[in-house]
Amino acid sequence: MITLALSKGRIFDETLPLLAAAGIEVLEDPEKSRKLILATNQAGVRVVLVRASDVPTYVQYGGADMGVTGKDTLMESGSQGLYQPLDLQIAKCRVSVAVRADFDYASAVKQGSRLKVATKYVAIAREFFAAKGVHVDLIKLYGSMELAPLTGLADAIVDLVSTGNTLKANHLVEVEHIIDISSRLVVNQAALKLKQEPIRAIIDAFAAAVQKRNP
Ligand code: PRP
Repeated sequence: MITLALSKGRIFDETLPLLAAAGIEVLEDPEKSRKLILATNQAGVRVVLVRASDVPTYVQYGGADMGVTGKDTLMESGSQGLYQPLDLQIAKCRVSVAVRADFDYASAVKQGSRLKVATKYVAIAREFFAAKGVHVDLIKLYGSMELAPLTGLADAIVDLVSTGNTLKANHLVEVEHIIDISSRLVVNQAALKLKQEPIRAIIDAFAAAVQKRNP
């Protein structure tokens, strides 16, 4: 049995065509069911639904043989012991710094002010501001980061930006682009040795599909 860990939403939706290229069809719609283990048309392959930030943990400890997870998650939580054979070029977005439209970020940074930064990406933010020599107080949040500058909790946020609609709707502006993000295929190293043939077949089919879509 091969177990693939996915998170609901964009990663699940954008992984389906890659699975199809490997001849794998998920038999249930996660939006219509509360099931966490989904069967596929192949008796030897199943999908487990986990939180995006838990995908590396499942794969690292063998709760899943492989998984799809954002580079943001891998950067934040570490990727020790994970084989990362492919950039799937899906769920593309970026990690950016954003502030209220009326906040003078450039001056705050130039004057060496201490910035209050709210984010769920504490490690990414710490490293980014340290490299710039900007002093920051980091406030860990788990969601709705955009609210922090609006309520006075923070001066800035570090968050994912895709279309930019969420920032716009909350009168925030992007002031720094930290890094481009896409999703990666991650594989448990022991599983790769023990179940080499079926795992290699999936990696090769995914690679061919990615190559076809991004020539
Ligand atoms: C992400 C991110 C932003 C939004 C950006 O949230 O945290 O809020 O998407 O997308 P946009 O630029 O296209 O508006 P998501 O909906 O993934 O939920 P999260 O808060 O759990 O991360």
